[in-house]
Amino acid sequence: MTTSPPLTALRRALPTIIQGGMGVAVSSWRLASAVARRGQLGVVSGTALDLVLARRLEDGDLDGSVRRAMAAFPVRSVVDRVLKRHLRPGGRAAGVAYTPVQRLSMRPGRAVQELTVLGNFVEVWLAKEGHDGIVGINYLQKIQMAMPAAAYGAMLAGVDVVLVGAGIPRHLPHLLDDLAAHRPTRLPVDVVGDPSGDHCVEIDPPGLLGTGIPPLNRPMFLAIVSSEVLAAYLTRDPAISPDGFVIEGHRAGGHNAPPRGRPVRDERGQPVFGARDQADIGKVAAVGLPFWLAGSLGTPEAVRAAVAAGATGVQVGTVFAMSTDSGLTPQLREQVLAALHADELEVLTDADASPTGFPFKVAQLDGTLSEPALRETRPRLCDLGFLRSPYLKDDGLVGFRCPAEPVEMFVRKGGTVEEATGRACLCNALSADVGLGQTRPDGRSEEALVTLGADLTGATRLAELYPDGWSADHVLDWLLAPA
Ligand SMILES: Cc1cc2nc3c(=O)[nH]c(=O)nc-3n(C[C@H](O)[C@H](O)[C@H](O)COP(=O)(O)O)c2cc1C
Repeated sequence: MTTSPPLTALRRALPTIIQGGMGVAVSSWRLASAVARRGQLGVVSGTALDLVLARRLEDGDLDGSVRRAMAAFPVRSVVDRVLKRHLRPGGRAAGVAYTPVQRLSMRPGRAVQELTVLGNFVEVWLAKEGHDGIVGINYLQKIQMAMPAAAYGAMLAGVDVVLVGAGIPRHLPHLLDDLAAHRPTRLPVDVVGDPSGDHCVEIDPPGLLGTGIPPLNRPMFLAIVSSEVLAAYLTRDPAISPDGFVIEGHRAGGHNAPPRGRPVRDERGQPVFGARDQADIGKVAAVGLPFWLAGSLGTPEAVRAAVAAGATGVQVGTVFAMSTDSGLTPQLREQVLAALHADELEVLTDADASPTGFPFKVAQLDGTLSEPALRETRPRLCDLGFLRSPYLKDDGLVGFRCPAEPVEMFVRKGGTVEEATGRACLCNALSADVGLGQTRPDGRSEEALVTLGADLTGATRLAELYPDGWSADHVLDWLLAPA
């Protein structure tokens, strides 16, 4: 198993740059490895890594990297079961669909847990292979049901930092403490319509992998939040306090915290953010924990300004997502870069696209689900389900629903037509962004939907410096160059 620097050593040597965790698999192990090798924090996306592992194996694992990491997993029988189910030597024949992966639930069975643990292990293990830099993993609080098994898998591979965004991750410190000691533990799960707080997802590490594994490194935990109020709330009680924060503004790529106050949209349908949505950096600094600023700060000047304002550094996404080390397919990267060079790349804040209901940044690209007509004509179906919400049914049991599933199904489960309108299936679209999109029985391939940050200043300047494209190394050379 990989060893990691202890937490205290990590705190002494905090990186200036966090390469943001960008899901699904845009922040791949290759990108995180390239950043970590340079002494900055390389982060893998922890979203849907069970699916990513299964599909990479079904595509044949042609370079052998996945199986190399699996060989380091401490329990061989788990590896054998996953290989038996998913490895297709040579890959899939054209037009053949990927095998379905069981969806998350409140009581995940052994097969789901094993695939999740192993998927997270593989991604972190590969990101850490061959150097002693630090590697983090990024989770979405919204995907609570995967979190215990996912974090356990990442910790088995020696992950140094866990970052969680899109929610209030108050139970994470406790979860990480328990997992480091292989203690059976549980994570509360929000259930729509049930304020009791009685629901949770459990994990029993010895039941899953046996008792022979030594205690694990307890990773540093960074909460990704948008306001000083939430930062102060989380630090009031040591039991729920993270070890630091990423303070993310509304121009960042991916999901954004919704604007505060009465929802207002501009003439293009974008949510309008105001002064109240800007975090007060002085108050964040007064909380007393290390913090990084994120969102439209991918330039050398912004890095220096953030540090001058008291931040440890910045978390940067967009310029890394466009780099040759990211998981985006070469075709999508070329399409994005061509639009950037032509000064035609536009990123809008889409209030409807994400099933989470959070605003989501969408790059406007032909042939992707940013086109309203394509979004409308995609046959609705929910076969991956990472963003499904548990809800309380009339019979008192817990059901699952997603506003991107067929509208009548969603309404039958208590949702409304308004909530379902304009939604995109992010699970399928984001998998397509990294070349792991599903092929349907009629031969149709799932379309992509690309998210980027709203501010393209850094990308535009890098495109001038490197007209043929840039790597993660180029990004770091540029961001960290002396003034
Ligand atoms: C392609 C892409 C995917 C992203 N996915 C996630 C994600 O899954 N989880 C998360 O916390 N942040 C996500 N983000 C946000 C980044 O981690 C980072 O905080 C943000 O991009 C910083 O702003 P910038 O893009 O202006 O540099 C994503 C950003 C991009 C560009």
